[in-house]
Amino acid sequence: MARGLFPRAWMTKSYHFQVRLSHVRVKYLFLTWLTVFVGSWVIYVQYSSYTELCRGRECQNNICDKYRKGVIDGSACSSLCEKGSLYFGRCLSSKPNNQVYTGSWGDVDGVIKCQLDDVLHYELGEELEPRKEAALFEKPTRGTSVEKFKEMVSSHLKAKVGEQASLAGLVSLILTVADGNKDGRVSLPEAKSAWALLQLNEVLLAVVLQDREHTPKLLGFCGDLYVVERVPYTPLYGLSLPWPLELWVPAGFRRSLDQWFTPSWPRKAKISIGLLELVEDVFHGPFGSFLMCDMRPGSFGYTERHDLRLVDGRLVVPEEAFRRAMRLQRCQEDHDCVYGVDCRTTCDHAEGRCTAQVSQPNLARACGALKDYLLRGAPAHLRDELEKQLYACMALRGSAEHMEMEHSLILNNLKTLLWKQISHTKDS
Ligand SMILES: Nc1ncnc2c1ncn2[C@@H]1O[C@H](COP(=O)(O)OP(=O)(O)O)[C@@H](O)[C@H]1O
Ligand SMILES: [Mg+2]
Repeated sequence: MARGLFPRAWMTKSYHFQVRLSHVRVKYLFLTWLTVFVGSWVIYVQYSSYTELCRGRECQNNICDKYRKGVIDGSACSSLCEKGSLYFGRCLSSKPNNQVYTGSWGDVDGVIKCQLDDVLHYELGEELEPRKEAALFEKPTRGTSVEKFKEMVSSHLKAKVGEQASLAGLVSLILTVADGNKDGRVSLPEAKSAWALLQLNEVLLAVVLQDREHTPKLLGFCGDLYVVERVPYTPLYGLSLPWPLELWVPAGFRRSLDQWFTPSWPRKAKISIGLLELVEDVFHGPFGSFLMCDMRPGSFGYTERHDLRLVDGRLVVPEEAFRRAMRLQRCQEDHDCVYGVDCRTTCDHAEGRCTAQVSQPNLARACGALKDYLLRGAPAHLRDELEKQLYACMALRGSAEHMEMEHSLILNNLKTLLWKQISHTKDS
């Protein structure tokens, strides 16, 4: 009996084993199929978003077509369209209408920014940069004298930055930049490029702040394509996770994750002083105040020497233009009165329109962006004082009675506090 049982048990065992094996096989087959399916889907999504986002070739063709027809001209045109010495490198765009590529121009590392036209809807943000008009390179028209062009530029700037004593200086700065081949005169194709560029906040800011050190230098342009200095380290901090992961990471953990892989504290202090200096430069500068409406770390980067640079200036707008746009904005609640990412005003319910005064000045939002960055790893003896000052800074309100005085007091205190800590280190 026992002898007969053994082969039966063995057969049952082997039967079970085979069933298990086929289950395992089915499982592996299913898993392989799932991996292939998900993998190809991810590749497809990546590819289609790449082809939608990265259309540098199209941008170059549009610009070079206009250049060859003699419509536009500029310091980068011949390198881009004839000599082929300005190359498009890696695509960095995150929006299809704003093409951003690394570029090499001779032995200079730059970043090429080029506008594409197919924006289907205009957000309030885009209204301050009315691209349609500029794109056609219609203005200035043939027969416009240099004097007339100067007037055009001057009244355009007056509308953007308001009545400023130094407006004439800004106009001549722009005319100097517009003279791409440096022959001492601005030709019609050069003027058309300059006019198109002038509509772009980032370019206006680069010209306004060209003698300061926190915006990348404008290296050249052709039409409304322009090349700026490349900033080696971007963003200011933070890791970019693949979006499926992004959805699952809790906000608190995300904030602490963002502070991993940042430079040592004295270096962070130096970079932060750079941001405070930039805020100082755009607050009541010689050409009026500008509002920085995207204080996210992605808007900034820094150099090898830990000097801060603004890498995305498209949402840095003259306060005058901001106030005007906000007053026109209809609203039902405060939530409707936001420009860019973080420039908020309040809703005047009686009028159904937004008010013009920005709720938090640049400085308060900059301190918000720097809080975790500066507090993590801060020397123990400094931490409390630093935290106190950062919170005082973040509490600054645009409508406060003595805002300007408080603004400069807080700014100076913070800068002094940080400088004192690093002035004796090699990083300063
Ligand atoms: N001057 C620059 N140097 C280095 N990287 C840059 C520079 N300008 C832009 N970038 C990179 O390209 C990305 C996209 O550029 P950006 O101007 O922010 O356009 P968008 O906001 O449409 O993505 C930035 O997040 C930054 O990483
Ligand atoms: Mg950006």
